Amino acid sequence: MTDTRVTPFNVAGKVCVITGAFHGLGAIIARRLAANGAHVVLGDIRDCTELADELDGLAVRVDVTDETQVEAMMQAAVDRFGQLDVVINNAGVESFDGFIVDMDVDAWRRDMDVNLLGVMLGIKHAAPRMKPGASIINVASLFGLMPIPTLSSYDASKAAVIHLTKTASVELGPKGIRVNAICPTGLTHDSYLGRIEGVDNWLDDWLKLNHQHVDELGHADDCAALVHYLASDDARFINAQAIAVDAGASAGPSIAMIEAATGKRAEWTDDDPMFEAPEPS
Ligand SMILES: NC(=O)c1ccc[n+]([C@@H]2O[C@H](COP(=O)([O-])OP(=O)(O)OC[C@H]3O[C@@H](n4cnc5c(N)ncnc54)[C@H](O)[C@@H]3O)[C@@H](O)[C@H]2O)c1
Repeated sequence: MTDTRVTPFNVAGKVCVITGAFHGLGAIIARRLAANGAHVVLGDIRDCTELADELDGLAVRVDVTDETQVEAMMQAAVDRFGQLDVVINNAGVESFDGFIVDMDVDAWRRDMDVNLLGVMLGIKHAAPRMKPGASIINVASLFGLMPIPTLSSYDASKAAVIHLTKTASVELGPKGIRVNAICPTGLTHDSYLGRIEGVDNWLDDWLKLNHQHVDELGHADDCAALVHYLASDDARFINAQAIAVDAGASAGPSIAMIEAATGKRAEWTDDDPMFEAPEPS
């Protein structure tokens, strides 16, 4: 029988670890989950005590590239709240903007370490502490689905996160643990993307042009809403997915993009009736 109850993505009482929770998307996810009754554990290389106090959660100082620290964070969640239900591997960096021929190897390694190794360690040390029904959510990127020039180390690390998500979902399936990725695109909060000198101007314009139905950037709240759903039992049948939060950009070039690139109208005819209002009957 169809279940017609209103289900508000219940996360009350769930213990959720969020990495990269000091700033940006991680902090917004933490606020949303806590507002819906979850116990939040805020992991970051920076001190999250203030936000943790506000949300009645736990702050853990962690470098997600350090295995000992990641394991200690997962254990701290269990020690404080008695269980571990949801892990959001969100901490990420974008260390290099430039063409591959100019790639700085240290920057490449940094992106791979934080964005990919960090996610792997999060999965490795969360899963043994989780029970059936648990959910792991990895924050990848639209650029993991479709690359953008000048961000190759970031692109590659996020594509690998998507693949790792699928491997983990297969391995952890028998334990009843779901593993999904979300793939955001440019978000309007004060993020690292805005700190890349000279890149954000064309990047923001390019992103907006690629959106199918809006000409504005997304907001971290758009991603937090999806994370909220994936964390809840309402998403019990959603596994091994990489879900884009990108206003349709991953579908391919938008009409606005085609017209900007070609200087021509994208419709086949000059008087395309498709979008005309129907005549009143
Ligand atoms: N902002 C966007 O437009 C956008 C788009 C696509 C994907 N993303 C992804 O979303 C996630 C969050 O991005 P954001 O924009 O909120 O970034 P942000 O720079 O605002 O925040 C990242 C957080 O991660 C923390 N962090 C960095 N290195 C760490 C480490 N080694 N260990 C622990 N914590 C560390 C930082 O201290 C910071 O609090 C990232 O994975 C990013 O790649 C963001």
